This record gives sequence, C-alpha cells and structure tokens, in this order.
Amino acid sequence: MRLEDIKKIGVIGGGTMGNGIAHVCAQSGYDVILVDTSGDLLEKAKKTITANLDRMVKKEKITEQAKNETLCRIKLSTKSEELGEAQIIIEAIYENLEAKIAIFKQLDSICTNGAILASNTSSLPITQLAAMTRRAERVIGMHFMNPVPMMSLVELIRGIATSNDTFHLTQELSRRLGKTPVEVNDFPGFISNRILMPMINEAIYALMEGVASAEDIDTVMKLGMNHPMGPLTLADFIGLDVCLAIMEVLYKGFSDSKYRPCPLLWKMVQAGYLGRKTGRGFFVYDK
Ligand code: NAI
Repeated sequence: MRLEDIKKIGVIGGGTMGNGIAHVCAQSGYDVILVDTSGDLLEKAKKTITANLDRMVKKEKITEQAKNETLCRIKLSTKSEELGEAQIIIEAIYENLEAKIAIFKQLDSICTNGAILASNTSSLPITQLAAMTRRAERVIGMHFMNPVPMMSLVELIRGIATSNDTFHLTQELSRRLGKTPVEVNDFPGFISNRILMPMINEAIYALMEGVASAEDIDTVMKLGMNHPMGPLTLADFIGLDVCLAIMEVLYKGFSDSKYRPCPLLWKMVQAGYLGRKTGRGFFVYDK
C-alpha cells in the first residue's frame, strides 16, 4: 500500500485521544470513521472536535468552511465492523491490555488483509498486540501526544515484526497529518514515558522526603530547566493513576528497582487524589 491508497482512516475509541486523532485526520483531508461503544460518547466526541475547530476559526487558523468540511468527513458509528472500510485503523481505547488484545483480534478479522493496525497505547507492548493478529508485520504503535491537534510529536513504535513498509507508510502518513514522527523500538515506556515518568517519580520522592515543597520543586524545573510546566503540575494534568500505571509498566518491564513507583504516588492514588480530574492531586483545582 502507498500513501495515496489511504482514503479512509478508522479510529476506535473516541475519548481524549481518539477525538483528537479523528480531528487531525479529518482536517488533513481523510475520511474518518470514529467508533465508540455508545451514541452518547460519540456525540460528546463530536462536540469536543467542534469546540476545538471553533477555537481554531476564532484564532483565524482555519476558515469556517474548512471547519465544516472537516466535520463532514467524520462519520460516527457504534459498529466496529464498519472499520473494515478503512486502510488504517488507529486504536485509542482505554489503557488495558486485555481490552486491547480483544480489539486487535476483532480488527484483524474485520479489516482487509492489507490494512494497517496502529495503537496509540502509551505503555503496552506493540509486539504482544501484534502477536494476537495474523498480520504482525502490519501492526505498529502510533503514540500521539495530548492534546493531539496541538502537539506535533508522534512516536512510531516498531514491534519486533513490524515491516519496513508499514513503518515508512505510517511515517509518511504522520507527516501528512502535520506531525513529526520519531522511530522508536518496542521497549517499556518507549522514549517519552521512559524519560518523563521517572523524572516525575523522582519529583514525588523529593516531595515525600521533604527536600522541598511542591511549589518549589515545580519552580526549580520551570525556571531552572525551562520546562513549561513543573513535574508535579504535569503529573496532576496527566492523572496520578496514569503515572502510577506507567511506572508499574517500567518497573515490571525492566525488572529494575530504579523504576519503583514512589510510595507517595501510591498513597495519592489510593486516596483518590488523581490530579486535575478529581480536583485534587499535588495541587488543588476548581472542578
Ligand atoms: P479515554 O478513557 O479518554 O477514552 C477511551 C475511549 O475508548 C472511551 O470513549 C471508551 O468508551 C472507548 N472504548 C473503550 N472500549 C472500547 C471498545 N471496545 N470499542 C470502542 N470504544 C471503546 O482514554 P484516552 O486518554 O483517550 O486514552 C486512550 C489511549 O491513548 C490509551 O491507550 C492511552 O494510554 C493513550 N494515550 C493517552 C494519553 C493521554 O494524555 N490521555 C496520551 C497518549 C496516549
């Protein structure tokens, strides 16, 4: 398959990441079929995409016409069988290995032989997802960053069996979507989370040990290292449960104690202090 052969892109899971991926694909001229488990969730996804496009119109980044055309290219469906029409499917359901394995098996039977199956997973092994299909060479990780329409990076993760053709086509597609792809081999946390999460975890250790206050830890990293956001603010933004889950993947995946999740991170998650989404994490937020 060549880039010109890709006409329709399937996205399964229309949450935070899935609606952003659908938005970017449609804005780049692709017909998109967005699948989720209920009509309500799909309507919510479409509302988010519309609001994000409206913001772009307001900022004069796109025209009203481009907005309407983008929205017209997105078809919503609760029937995953409809993904069979797409040349590439990007999976963005929640981060759960069993659920993703079930989806990959299902997609493998629905989709044409040549179709590429991509996963937006932030931490699960692409090699294992690929092994659940009869097309391991056409399975790849496409790890977009949040918020998808704003962030230019996409990590392309090669499973052990991912073919060069699949990699190069996905690389070209990422560029067509206006993104900057990087090539990463399939090891726990890829590059982004392997470096980011231990930094956040270390900031939590520093807080737990009383080295400095949460505000001061963030100030050091913002003013001293020029990070746009301190690590604890960023952890609250990502969600402390998500941070913990990724640290666990690193810890188990490398069998190395240097990735052990900080006990304070555990405690925060057990308390339900998950960050922005619950109104409280290392900082307090208006809900
Ligand atoms: P989310 O929870 O916002 O959305 C997941 C969506 O998938 C929900 O709308 C849910 O109804 C749907 N879904 C679940 N099972 C389904 C099924 N069987 N069929 C169809 N739809 C189904 O999750 P989010 O944050 O968008 O994450 C999605 C993926 O992206 C995860 O693998 C996550 O690790 C990854 N990711 C998340 C980032 C983030 O900042 N949120 C950043 C980069 C990657």
